[in-house]
Amino acid sequence: MRIVAEHLSYTYNPKSPFETKALDDVSLTIEEGEFFGILGHTGSGKSTFVQHLNGLLRLPSSMKRYREKRKKEGECKTVLRVGDFDLASKKTDFRALRRSVGMVFQYPEYQLFAETVKDDVAFGLKNFSDKKLSADEIGRAVRDALAAVGLDYGEVANKSPFDLSGGQKRRAAIAGVIVTKPEVLILDEPAAGLDPLGKRELMELLHRLHKSWCKTVVIVSHDMDEIAENCTMSAVFAEGRVVFSLPPKELFKRHEELERLGLDIPLTAKLCRALGARGVNVDCDFTVEGFVRAVLALKEKGGRA
Ligand SMILES: Nc1ncnc2c1ncn2[C@@H]1O[C@H](COP(=O)(O)OP(=O)(O)OP(=O)(O)O)[C@@H](O)[C@H]1O
Ligand SMILES: [Mg+2]
Repeated sequence: MRIVAEHLSYTYNPKSPFETKALDDVSLTIEEGEFFGILGHTGSGKSTFVQHLNGLLRLPSSMKRYREKRKKEGECKTVLRVGDFDLASKKTDFRALRRSVGMVFQYPEYQLFAETVKDDVAFGLKNFSDKKLSADEIGRAVRDALAAVGLDYGEVANKSPFDLSGGQKRRAAIAGVIVTKPEVLILDEPAAGLDPLGKRELMELLHRLHKSWCKTVVIVSHDMDEIAENCTMSAVFAEGRVVFSLPPKELFKRHEELERLGLDIPLTAKLCRALGARGVNVDCDFTVEGFVRAVLALKEKGGRA
C-alpha cells in the first residue's frame, strides 16, 4: 500500500490559547516496500504525522458532522491515502484501515494490561476484527504473532505481561499490533530505551517482519546510525514541514544542512567527512558495511586510506 499525503496540516487545540500548529502543509509519499525512516528534532511533527496514517488523528473532512466549506482562493486540497483507503473521506472504514496499518507507540510496553500475554495479544485482534472469531482462530493468530516476534508461546503465553523482561515486553506489545497481519507497520521510536544489544535485536526483528508479514515498515527515530543502517528511504521533519525526503545515502551527504537543523549525522558520515578533510574521499552508503567496503576498495586501488 502506497502512502500519499499532500498539503496535510494539523493544529492541536485550535482557536485556544494552547493552539499549536504541528503539521504545516506536509506532502510526502511512502512507496510500498520501503523501510522508511522519519527523523527530525523533538516537536517537529513526526508523531503527529504518523498518527494520521492509521486514522488516530483524523482529517476534519472524514468526520460525520463535517460540512464542506468553500475553499479560500489558493488553498490546496488535502490528500491522505493509504493504499485504497481515502483518509479524507467519511465513507472510509477506519476499523479496516487499522487492521491494515499497525501502529506501535513509543514505549508500547506501558500499554500492556491484560492478565496474560496471550490475552493481551488477542485483544488487538478482537478489537479490530469485523467478525466474531472462533477461539481456534484467535489461538492460531496469537501463536503466529508471538512466534513472529521471537517469543516462545509455551514459555510466555500464560505469564503476566508484567513478569516479562523489558525486551520481551516490547516484543509482546509489538505482537499485539502485528496480530492483524498489517500490510503497513508504523513504529514510533521502536528502539528507545533499549540497550545496544536490545536495539540490534529489535531492528533484526523489524527486518524479519518486513520480509514476511509487513510489506512497508515506517519507523520514527532520533538515531541517525539506526536510520543509515536500516532504512531504504527517509524524510526529515522540521517545524511541522518535510524538509528532505531522500534515501539515507543521499541525505547524509547533506551534513551541513542537517547540522543547521540541529540534527546529528551517523558515525560513518562523520568518518567520511574527517577523511575527506584529509584528502581521502570515501563514497559509501553510510552503513558500516558499506563504509568498510569503500575504504578497502580505496586501499586496493593504492589510495592513501
Ligand atoms: N496532544 C497534544 N496537544 C497539544 N499539542 C501537542 C500534542 N501533541 C503534540 N503537540 C505539539 O505539536 C508539535 C508536534 O509534536 P509531535 O509530538 O508530533 O512532535 P515529534 O516530532 O513527534 O516530537 P518528539 O521527537 O519529541 O516525539 C509540538 O509542538 C508538540 O508540543
Ligand atoms: Mg514523537
